Amino acid sequence: MKKYFLPVKIIFGEKSYQKLFSELEGAGVKKPLLICGSHFVSSFKYKDFEEKVPVFEVFTGVEPNPSTSTVDRAASLLNSSQCDAVVGIGGGSVLDAAKVVACMHGFKKSCESFYRKPPHRKNRVPFFAVPTTSGSGSEATRYSVLTRSDGSKKTLRHDLFYARVAIVDPELTYSMPPEVTAATGIDAFCQSVEAYWAKTATPQTDAFAAEAIGLAYHSIFKAVNDPDKQARQNMSLASLCAAQAFSNTGTTACHQVSYPLTRHFGLVHGFAVAITLQWFLGFYSEKGGKAGEKCLEICRLIGAKTIAEGREKLIGLLSSIGAPTKLREIGCRPEDFQKIVAVCLEERPQNPRKHTKEDIERMLAEIC
Ligand SMILES: [Fe+2]
Repeated sequence: MKKYFLPVKIIFGEKSYQKLFSELEGAGVKKPLLICGSHFVSSFKYKDFEEKVPVFEVFTGVEPNPSTSTVDRAASLLNSSQCDAVVGIGGGSVLDAAKVVACMHGFKKSCESFYRKPPHRKNRVPFFAVPTTSGSGSEATRYSVLTRSDGSKKTLRHDLFYARVAIVDPELTYSMPPEVTAATGIDAFCQSVEAYWAKTATPQTDAFAAEAIGLAYHSIFKAVNDPDKQARQNMSLASLCAAQAFSNTGTTACHQVSYPLTRHFGLVHGFAVAITLQWFLGFYSEKGGKAGEKCLEICRLIGAKTIAEGREKLIGLLSSIGAPTKLREIGCRPEDFQKIVAVCLEERPQNPRKHTKEDIERMLAEIC
């Protein structure tokens, strides 16, 4: 039996940002907490927000790879200013933080406690998600990846983290610089590939993932190097479709391996995920069966006839957008491998093939 669940009202398209205000009104929101990037505050869209939302509070302190303490600070503001909703406008970090804040109304403890005990409905206010990048897909998922007080990145998952409304307006992504377009866009691409080969894939997630793989593969170079409206719109839709897939399947080993690469070498999330993607395409295809078939289908979606050709195309894609393809490019050397391996051994049930310590060591040696 296969289940698909995504309880988010999704509004997609140019100018859809304007729908945010009628959605807030329709939900009876009196005073939202706006969580956004600091640059958003100086934009025309912010002026629009000021004009159309008479009373609100704003929090701009979300850092990349947001920490649990940042989420706690935003939640304090939610409570001290008696806000009745959370609006997140930003990239994946902003949205990941905002969805957790929205579950902390009247909640006295730290969000770290959610790793032990899930959030409760009584502490939740409506959450409205408006992405300004094309990549994380956080607007349509129940995941929030936070950095804990010990420095590790760990995912919180709960249905209460789903947004009430996600507004995906490609116009909001037009001002993204090339590095951000590349890093977020390749995250969307990887998330769609990982959703496609995941053991938890369903016919619904396959349809969304296949759409996202094709759109992102064929549009990311243009979106990074010579962006036009069409390329931006394609990436925006690819990111959303990827989210509609991996929200249900989860991501696989590439995401798990990415966390220590970001933590120890400062590699931006999307690039940290992408650097192992071609290796795992080979690894998951090696044993044939269902996983092997899925890997071959992924290759076909990017115009490759064989796994070897698919791996070459993935390496070419990364190079074409300025992403590293070898660990040595990020300063990671064989003597660093042990601190990576330990974190990678946590097995995700959706991984299409189990990996051992030796597999991870082989992978690191091969992409060094
Ligand atoms: Fe990701």
